[in-house]
Amino acid sequence: MSALPLLKRPRRLRKSAALRALVRETDLHPGDFILPLFVSEKISEPAPVASMPGVFQLPLPALVREAREAHADGVVAVLLFGIPSHKDEEASGAYSEDGIVQKAVRAIKAEIPALLVITDVCLCEFMSHGHCGVTRFEGEHAHVLNDPSVALLARTAVSHARAGADIVAPSDMMDGRIAAMRNALDSAGFQETPILSYAAKFASAFYGPFRDVAESTPRSGDRRGYQMDAANGDEALREVALDLEEGADMVMVKPGLPYLDIIQRVKQRFEVPTFAYHVSGEFAMLKAAASNGWLDEKACLFEIMTAFRRAGADGIITYAAREMARWLR
Ligand code: PBG
Repeated sequence: MSALPLLKRPRRLRKSAALRALVRETDLHPGDFILPLFVSEKISEPAPVASMPGVFQLPLPALVREAREAHADGVVAVLLFGIPSHKDEEASGAYSEDGIVQKAVRAIKAEIPALLVITDVCLCEFMSHGHCGVTRFEGEHAHVLNDPSVALLARTAVSHARAGADIVAPSDMMDGRIAAMRNALDSAGFQETPILSYAAKFASAFYGPFRDVAESTPRSGDRRGYQMDAANGDEALREVALDLEEGADMVMVKPGLPYLDIIQRVKQRFEVPTFAYHVSGEFAMLKAAASNGWLDEKACLFEIMTAFRRAGADGIITYAAREMARWLR
């Protein structure tokens, strides 16, 4: 047997762990991960959620404890969602100075000042009907009104900044909300508060488990009138371009794995800090397979997070942020 007459032998560089490490293109760091946390005004003990193993709705004291432990694991940022005890048609709990998110931000910043607190800015958890904006119903048809929603969203962002949020992250997908929020933040004295825009957020079936945790399932209708159609890539670029023009500092693509092409196009086109949201349904799928012994959870998580970084994501929002940070330390 003569040697293969190949000049190109890529396997030369795969011979040992050291060689592979030497030529590895993509690295992961504990600082790449953002942990979503759910604070509830309605409970006094942590409440597990069946579709999200390891994820809890937390009362305020447990939230602060969880944030402290996450920070000790090496997590540098959390993304806060609130579950209010009272919902109405104006989402008044979203922008109330003593709303659950505002209280949670103040409590975390007081205890763990070095931990970055990002707040999800949306109205769905605070609306009695579960839509992300002010809604008029025609029978079962939910008509989400853009401009009245934007006004409430801007007010919510300012109240989060006033409570001490380091970054605000609007996830509603209304038109013009970034400009409105930037103006409102600036005039309230928060010129230095960055906006991380959920710029390309798709209407996705992968949000199911999240809506169980956040108690934000629309009572009727769906979110296709404001979130993007999964079929559209060019439109995602137009959405990102608009948000950047309007003043977004960072952008997000959501969900994650089914939209790696969007992450790559956004990063290549705009060269701005770009985040991927590994959403609840993606997490739930992996957890379910792992608990059956069908997949190796840790190995899959490393592969998934590496794929996000390889596609161009600067950071990843993931329910596995604590584990990832711990494994990478
Ligand atoms: C709120 C919001 C949602 C998610 C993040 N912010 C749900 C939705 O749009 O219905 C989903 C996150 C996840 O699935 O992990 N608008």
